[in-house]
Amino acid sequence: MSNRIDNLLHEDRRFAPSDEFAANAVANAELYAEASDDRLGFWARQARELVTWEKPFTQTLDWSNPPFAKWFDDGTLNVAYNCLDRHVDAGNGDRVALHFEGEPGDSRSLTYAELTAEVKRAANVLTGLGIRAGDRVAIYLPMIPEAVIAMLAVARLGAVHSVVFGGFSADSLRSRIDDAAAKLVITADGGWRKGKVSPLKPAVDAALEARGDLGPQDTVTNVLVVKRGENTVDWNPERDRWWHDELAAASPDHTAEAFPAENPLFILYTSGTTGKPKGILHTSGGYLTQAAFTHKNVFDLHADSDVYWCTADIGWITGHTYVTYGPLANGATQVIYEGTPDSPHPGRWWEIIEKYKVSIFYTAPTAIRSFMKLGRKIPKQFDLSSLRLLGSVGEPINPEAWMWYRKVIGGKTAPIVDTWWQTETGAIMISALPGITETKPGSAQVPLPGIAIDVVDDDGNPVGEGNGGLLVVTEPWPSMLRGIWGDPERFQETYWEKFGDKYFAGDGARLDDDGDVWLLGRVDDVMNVSGHRLSTAEIESALVSHPFTAEAAVVGASDETTGQAVVAFVIIKESQLEESKAVEDIQAVLRTHVGEQIGPIARPRQIFVVNELPKTRSGKIMRRLLRDVAEGREIGDTTTLADTTVMQIITEKVG
Ligand code: WT7
Repeated sequence: MSNRIDNLLHEDRRFAPSDEFAANAVANAELYAEASDDRLGFWARQARELVTWEKPFTQTLDWSNPPFAKWFDDGTLNVAYNCLDRHVDAGNGDRVALHFEGEPGDSRSLTYAELTAEVKRAANVLTGLGIRAGDRVAIYLPMIPEAVIAMLAVARLGAVHSVVFGGFSADSLRSRIDDAAAKLVITADGGWRKGKVSPLKPAVDAALEARGDLGPQDTVTNVLVVKRGENTVDWNPERDRWWHDELAAASPDHTAEAFPAENPLFILYTSGTTGKPKGILHTSGGYLTQAAFTHKNVFDLHADSDVYWCTADIGWITGHTYVTYGPLANGATQVIYEGTPDSPHPGRWWEIIEKYKVSIFYTAPTAIRSFMKLGRKIPKQFDLSSLRLLGSVGEPINPEAWMWYRKVIGGKTAPIVDTWWQTETGAIMISALPGITETKPGSAQVPLPGIAIDVVDDDGNPVGEGNGGLLVVTEPWPSMLRGIWGDPERFQETYWEKFGDKYFAGDGARLDDDGDVWLLGRVDDVMNVSGHRLSTAEIESALVSHPFTAEAAVVGASDETTGQAVVAFVIIKESQLEESKAVEDIQAVLRTHVGEQIGPIARPRQIFVVNELPKTRSGKIMRRLLRDVAEGREIGDTTTLADTTVMQIITEKVG
C-alpha cells in the first residue's frame, strides 16, 4: 500500500469538463452551498422535488435514538408508484424504461406503460399468493426484466425483497431465506451465462429441501418460476407456479397503496468480518430520495434523451440503486444485459453501447482492467461516440485504468465519476459532480452535497489534508442502512462502537493537499474481489467445513485484474494426508467445495497446503504475514509470533 500512496502523491493530472458539458450539466455548484448552510433543508427539498408523496412529511430527520435514524418519518409514499405510474400519468408512458439484451442475442424493450402494467399484474399475483406488507420475498433471478418487475411488485405491496445473487450457491440461498424467514421465492428455470443455460431452479429446490430442523420449509409457501432458460426442471405442484401462467391470469389493474417512509423496502446480505453475512436493511422514503438525487446529479441524467447502462447485477446493491430504484424513479431509459461481457465475443459490451447508443455508462474497475488487457483494438471496432459520461464503482480505480477508460472508451471527453459507497450507505456518498468538479485520475474526490465525511485517526481525530486514516461518515444520511436484519446489536457494534457518534465505513482513506479523498481499500478482514465483497471468515468457515481441513486462513492478495484475489492457506488433517492424496486433488476438492458452499466468486485463486499457520501468542492468525507470502513480498515483522520459525517453513512450502 505504501507504494500506492507514494504514486498517488504525484498525481497532478486534472480534467475539466468541456464548456458544453458544463453549460448543460444537471448539477450546479450552489448545491454545495445550499447543503452546507442547511443540510436537512437541502434533503427535504430533494425529497419533495424528486419523490411523490401520498402524505407529505413534516419532519425531515429524527435522530433522537442514534444510530437508528428516521427520515421523513410521518410522510407516506409508494416506492413502485414513484418508479412507474407517475411517469405514465405525466405523459411519459411511451418512453422506454428497459432495453433488455439477452445473452443469446434476443432483445425486448418495455416502455414505462408496459413495465407498469407488468408490475401491476405481478403485484396481483403476489397478493394472490398471500404476500402482504412486511412479508419477505426472496428473489433469485438472472438479469432479465422480470428481476426488476419482481422487485417493484414486492415494493408495491409494501413487502420486503431480499435479492440473492444468481451466482450464489443453494447453501447461501438457504441461509438467506432462513434468516429473513421468506414466504415466497421468485426464481427462473435458468439464465444464459457464457454461452449456455445456467440452471437456477435446482438451487432453490435444494435450498428448500426438508432438513428435519427448523428451516425454510416452514416459511416458504410458494416458488414462482420465470421461464427463461427453457431447461428441464423438477416440479413440486403443491408449491411451484409458473410466472407466465400466473401473470396471464392476473388482473392488470392495481392501485398502489401508500406506506410510511420508514417501511422496510429490502434486505440485502453482504459479507462482514464474521462468517455470517449481514442482512442490511433499507427503508423507503430516504432511500428513494438519495437514490434519485445521486442518479440524477452524479450521472448528469437528462431523462428525455439519455440512454443509461449500469452493468451491475440486481444481486448487488449497485443493481438495486442504479438499475432498479434510481433510474426508474427518475424516468430514465436504460439497458439491462443478461450475460457476461465476453459472450459470444470479447466486444459484446461495446456492441451493446453501439446498438442502443448508450450515453451514460457505469461499471467496475475490474471490468475495465480486463478489457485493458485485451487491448484497445476490440472497443475500437465499435462506435462508442454516444458515450458522454462514464462511472466507476466497487473498488479503487488505479490511475492507469482511469486513463484508459477516459481515452479508449470515453473518447478523451467524457467525464469520469469515481463513486464511493457501500451496501450500507445505500447510495453514492463520495464522487465528483460532472460539469462542476475537475476530475483527478484515481481519486473519488469529494463528498456529495448533504453528505458529511471525514478521515480520522484511531481515536477519531481528523487527520487533516495530506494524511491518511479511516473513512467515517459524521452525520446521518437519507439512504443509510437502518440496521442489520434481526440483529440490532451487531449493527451498533460493527459501525458505531469504534467512534461512538460517527459511522465507521471499514475503509482506509487519505486526504490529499486539495482535500480530495483517495480510497485505500478495506482495513478489516473483508476482501474486495472484482468489486464484490467477500469475508475472510466466511471462506475460512467454508474451508473448515470440509472433512479434509483441520485449519484454514484466507487473505486477499492483490491481483492485477480482480483487485484482490482469494488466497487460502490450509492445514490438512493427518488422517487425510495418510491416505496419500495428491496435494493437487486436495486443492481441487477444496476449491469446488467453497464454490458449493458460497458461490463460484468465493473460490480461492490459490490454496496452499501448509503444516502451520502464523499465530500470535494469544492465538490470533497473523494474516498480514500470509498476505506477504501470497503477494511474493519479503515477510514483515514476525516478532509477535508464538513460533517465529513458522513463516520460514511456510515460505519454503509455498516457494
Ligand atoms: C466497499 C463496499 C457500492 C457498490 C459496490 C460495492 C469499496 C466501493 C469504491 C470506490 C474505492 C470502493 C469499499 C467499500 N468501494 N466503491 N469508488 N473506490 N473503493 O458495494 O459490496 O457494499 O462494498 O467497496 O471498500 O467499503 P459493497
